[in-house]
Amino acid sequence: MNLFVTGGAGFIGANFILQARQQGWGRVVNLDKLTYASNLQTLVDLETDPDYTFVRGDIGNLELVNHLFEQYQPDAVINFAAESHVDRSILNPQDFIQTNVVGTFRLLEAARNYWQHLAATQRDRFRFLHVSTDEVYGSLGPSDPAFREETPYAPNSPYAASKAAADHLVRAYYHTYHLPTLTTHCSNNYGPRQFPEKLIPLILLNALEGKPLPIYGDGQNVRDWLYVTDHCEALYQVLRQGQIGATYNIGGQNEQTNLAVVETICTLLDKLVPQVGLSRSSLITFVKDRPGHDRRYAIDCSKISRELGWQPRENFDSGLAKTIQWYLDHPDWVAQVRSGTYQTWLKQNYDNRET
Ligand code: NAD
Ligand code: DAU
Repeated sequence: MNLFVTGGAGFIGANFILQARQQGWGRVVNLDKLTYASNLQTLVDLETDPDYTFVRGDIGNLELVNHLFEQYQPDAVINFAAESHVDRSILNPQDFIQTNVVGTFRLLEAARNYWQHLAATQRDRFRFLHVSTDEVYGSLGPSDPAFREETPYAPNSPYAASKAAADHLVRAYYHTYHLPTLTTHCSNNYGPRQFPEKLIPLILLNALEGKPLPIYGDGQNVRDWLYVTDHCEALYQVLRQGQIGATYNIGGQNEQTNLAVVETICTLLDKLVPQVGLSRSSLITFVKDRPGHDRRYAIDCSKISRELGWQPRENFDSGLAKTIQWYLDHPDWVAQVRSGTYQTWLKQNYDNRET
């Protein structure tokens, strides 16, 4: 397959491309705007790979995207490109509308234009896989059933609303134009190469440096943690065997409160990198809550398991141990992503937040 990956210099996209090239899923063209969340260092090993091409650009640039479709003749688009951090969407929603909504719309337009003019065999093979999130379903109470594919949309943050809008466009392109789309909704990903604005890498790196570990509110918000390579395998299964026009929920079957996640990281780090007289959990600091903070997400992934035979391989202990080891083994990567604008973000989000 010729895979056209967007946002492939970010966390999940880069892991997907590395897996795709290692496991022979296909040739890859990676279109990425290179925002603050991206890191080409992650993909440095592919620089000499003749079946990997990187293009810097915006999914919202219709002329460029049209040209890339013509040039590379993809069999599939996998759309990871997005503004993805909820806290940033609260402080500055504009970019989220631009990339997640307008960008996805332009990408769909380019895909439609390309796909309509393909020869019959290529047209039948073509897929547009849109990577969405469980956040579009809103927030659950403690004993509510997990999100199913039929759960009504109820997005609560500007980020979730922008992803929901994009999902609706994808759905409309399938129903109106019969563009062969697929949409996935996954839970919180974790693993190697995640930008340290998200909970797990932020806590891990702060803990290693003896800095405060900020927990929003009471720490009892629940997330379902999915190891990133499990997610990427699920995406590949959806791409290969998913029913056109369908949506699939992907989860790690691993619900945890934020406080429990942070405590587990502290315990693992205390074992791996002991500090005399200090348990990292003493660094835990409860801070002012995120506005509109969703209480609980949980994914029912029985559909993908039943229809495509996918199951997560990692449990939280094994996934977290691998994640921590990766960050310990890659101090140069960490130093690079934590310089410059990252420090500005930490000030913006965490200064004056302590309670
Ligand atoms: P990320 O923020 O790490 O990476 C996003 C990538 O998209 C970056 O490389 C960025 O440069 C690129 N990008 C942003 N705007 C672009 C544009 N206009 N044109 C081209 N490239 C652009 O995100 P991630 O965590 O890897 O998430 C990937 C996708 O998965 C997103 O769509 C996100 O909504 C979704 N998702 C993520 C999670 C998670 O836990 N990380 C969970 C559910 C869904
Ligand atoms: O559920 C899928 C979503 O998961 C994706 O769509 C988003 O792109 C991704 O960012 C993630 O969103 P969350 O808001 O759940 O992830 P985040 O890592 O930002 O936060 C996880 C939980 O930890 C959440 O309840 C907020 C809390 N938190 C986060 C940070 C950064 C803290 O308590 N302290 C922090 O400093």
